[in-house]
Amino acid sequence: MSLWGGRFSQPSDEQLRQLNDSIDFDQALYGEDIKGSIVYARALATAGVISADEAETIVGGLREVLREFESDTFAFSAADEDIHTAVERRLIELVGAVGGKLHTGRSRNDQVATDFRLWCRKAADELTAALRQLQAALLNLAERHQETLMPGYTHLQPAQPITAAHWLLSFFWMLERDLHRIAAAKARMAECPLGSGAIAGTPFPLDRDAIARALGFAAASQNSLDAVSDRDFVADLLYANALCAIHLSRLAEDILLFSNPAFGFITLDDRYSTGSSLMPQKRNADPLELMRGKTGTVIGALTGFLVTLKGLPSGYNKDLQEDKEALFGALETMHRLLPVITATISSLKLNAAAMQAALSSDLLATDLADYLVRKGMPFRQAHHVVGEAVRLAAEAELNLPDLPLPRLRQLSPLFAEDVAAVFDFGNSVRRRSAPGGTAPQALRLQIAQARAILDEYAEDCV
Ligand code: ARG
Repeated sequence: MSLWGGRFSQPSDEQLRQLNDSIDFDQALYGEDIKGSIVYARALATAGVISADEAETIVGGLREVLREFESDTFAFSAADEDIHTAVERRLIELVGAVGGKLHTGRSRNDQVATDFRLWCRKAADELTAALRQLQAALLNLAERHQETLMPGYTHLQPAQPITAAHWLLSFFWMLERDLHRIAAAKARMAECPLGSGAIAGTPFPLDRDAIARALGFAAASQNSLDAVSDRDFVADLLYANALCAIHLSRLAEDILLFSNPAFGFITLDDRYSTGSSLMPQKRNADPLELMRGKTGTVIGALTGFLVTLKGLPSGYNKDLQEDKEALFGALETMHRLLPVITATISSLKLNAAAMQAALSSDLLATDLADYLVRKGMPFRQAHHVVGEAVRLAAEAELNLPDLPLPRLRQLSPLFAEDVAAVFDFGNSVRRRSAPGGTAPQALRLQIAQARAILDEYAEDCV
């Protein structure tokens, strides 16, 4: 017998019941549901809708239901449609008819909107913790490779020398933006829908702000019609999560490329590599391919849910029940990936010699143009002159630094003996010392800022 059966003369069709039931997945919300109900029972008493004794009986019963869930002894009944009906059904079994007073003025619409917001706030914190660990792994590795030089790529073509630390830290800052997005999403979840009823608000004199505060929200929601059907917070989290996955997919792609023997920049630890059933020599980077591949699934959860929202009429609609599986699935995927990606990064071996060997002297062409600029030539002209020098060197089958000085001086009299100092990868990197650049001096600042962010987070956690 369902909690809403009075109006019907026949039970629901069994296949519809199975389709409609959300208990299989929304039981994950039991803690939030019971917490919300405890606060709501007390608010009913404060408003004089039920007596203080009745409220305490209900609270006692809810605590017992919570114990049953936590000790894995909660017995589901076939009629438990969702977590809300399951908790209420069990409450009434435990405390009797007075338990039936709990749902006064409340609807599952404001109830689930409240529960899921509470769950999402917790989920935002868990995702944050996992991402902080990945940031720490990137930072630790970067600290060890401040002097390791490698080619930086644009259009995937060798562009300019950079340090490996600079490359690694670029992902630290992508994750930092992701963390800001997650924090912003959490901040936007700060309004409490409870007390909105099914759609029109509650006819009982509830102190909605007190309810909101007791549940850790900043305020009560402003409009009951909006509050019961607002799932922006789910879309926000799905988006923050998807963009984060995209960043990690790009990191995975870099590492896949750099661990290819054609590059040989990186060796994956055996524990995070896989082999081939046919080709004995193979060392594959499956964790990174899974990161890249599952990013598609995580993006799918976002786009799928956005399509669910599109075109919904005002008020609660059952379509909204899709919110939970979308978000649960996307977050579970990330929580399975993140520890493996973090450990993969922590155990990466960077082959400094191979990285250095991949630096070819034409990566210093920009530095050569800058040399002429320092001697007073407009950059556009310097770019042209160095372009000619690159072409001359190629025609003579020489590396750029091996072009004789007289040949360079035919292109511009500004070339002099001191041009030799340009052809040094370390000098090229060291010159890029303005904040945000790849020079060790700028890197030290970057690393200090990154470290301060992680330290501050660690302090907030204790
Ligand atoms: N299981 C539902 C959900 O997740 C709970 C709300 C049901 N509300 C209703 N009026 N049937 O959305």
